[in-house]
Amino acid sequence: TVAQLTLDPAFVIGAVDPRLFGSFVEHMGRCVYSGVFEPGHPAADDAGLRTDVLDLTRELGVTTVRYPGGNFVSGYRWEDGVGPVGDRPQRLDLAWRTVESNAFGLNEFMGWARAAGVEPMLAVNLGTRGVAEAAELVEYTNLPGGTAAADLRRKHGVGQPHDVRLWCLGNEMDGPWQVGNRTADEYGRVAARAGHAMRRVDPGIELVACGSSHSDMPTFAAWEATVLEHAYDQVDYVSLHSYYDPEKHDAASFRAAAVDLDAFIDAVVATADFVRAKLRRTKRIRLALDEWNVWYQSRFTEPEDRGIAGEPPPLIEDEYTVTDAMVVGNLLISMLRHADRLAIGCQAQLVNIIAPIRTEPGGPAWRQTIFHPFALTARHARGTALRPVLTAPTMPTGRFGDVPVLDAAATVDGDRLTVFAVNRGEAPVPLHLDLRAFGAVTAVEHLALAEADPTLANTAAAPGRVAPRPLDPPVFDGGRAVVELPPVSWHVLRLT
Ligand code: AHR
Repeated sequence: TVAQLTLDPAFVIGAVDPRLFGSFVEHMGRCVYSGVFEPGHPAADDAGLRTDVLDLTRELGVTTVRYPGGNFVSGYRWEDGVGPVGDRPQRLDLAWRTVESNAFGLNEFMGWARAAGVEPMLAVNLGTRGVAEAAELVEYTNLPGGTAAADLRRKHGVGQPHDVRLWCLGNEMDGPWQVGNRTADEYGRVAARAGHAMRRVDPGIELVACGSSHSDMPTFAAWEATVLEHAYDQVDYVSLHSYYDPEKHDAASFRAAAVDLDAFIDAVVATADFVRAKLRRTKRIRLALDEWNVWYQSRFTEPEDRGIAGEPPPLIEDEYTVTDAMVVGNLLISMLRHADRLAIGCQAQLVNIIAPIRTEPGGPAWRQTIFHPFALTARHARGTALRPVLTAPTMPTGRFGDVPVLDAAATVDGDRLTVFAVNRGEAPVPLHLDLRAFGAVTAVEHLALAEADPTLANTAAAPGRVAPRPLDPPVFDGGRAVVELPPVSWHVLRLT
């Protein structure tokens, strides 16, 4: 089979929501402490925010950041993290079995989000807490004053409401590991009631119901159907989480991880639409992939298997290879392919914890390999996602059978056309581009992430080892050109 990609401006999937390029900051390991926040660090500002991390966050192009968890939120008392720092309690964090100092909380996060130029997405605790605390948190965060919780914020020195629009109704409530884990009926009811109360406080907010923690959950799909039957009218989005472990299956299945994400997204869309039909509603629920990434999860030690740490120890600081970066780029391609229903994506997490940005305490911050496909996709995937027509040779995988060796997405924004492509196979593939429907096109830039050794990673000692490199842009003749895609590689091709 000849590999061929045909694009036509008339083949539209939908508008790309900039919130697809979100991230996630959880009180876990060194994401907050010595990640985004490290008073006394040479690069810290007056508030203790690491400006080197802020710079990299802006360079990454992150649009939306979910906070404060994650599993952490399911035992979190938001009141612990506000008010004079000296009065804040040391609290046992049940999710990661560490002691939370609460030196960083809601108002510090909002200051960080403003400095980073990102939209906050806050999660409420529906594990150990419920409707009242969720509604009070919205009041503290979004109301101007004149009522107890809003006045408390003013007393804490924050006169103007934070005006947070996006709220998650708990986290991974389907997971037995989750503190306060519930059945779908229990969660659906509490999500509906909490959402209702939160909207009574501020009718302008948008709400995300917890979907499944991954596509292999035994309750997957039945969970979404039951939860949405309870909460359809209260929520705008249903979440899905998806992590890919390079060591769990055969190497080809890992390189083709986006096949799983495609199927997962399609199934959640179908389930949400089933409930829509069943309830005879017209509103469509959109999707929030509010945790996703490559994660060497089989190397992870469960919190039960270690002692309680006095302060958050380094956790899951995975070091990413070129192959991992290609997979991250491919997952972003899958997300663009679903731009009609997928509104929000949060790569988990932003700093140190399975993250594009790494830091040393007191030392430098640097870009992991996965930083690059994210940053370039966030920068260039603008406007409208197009439906590519792609033919490609196949490769065998243990998990998915034969899958196309190439994958691609494209966006068009005015006269700017951008193509994202991956070669997931171990041999080079010439890709024939057919862009005749666009008239005369010129390639202005071709960047590739490809190394002879796909196991290469960036480290504190060699932070720039893996980075995208420019290739000669292909020359088009009558709307056609050929580009060579090396083995295990990710590409962005910009045209006009
Ligand atoms: O991102 C790490 C953890 O993965 C999150 O806390 C949890 O929601 C997920 O299981």
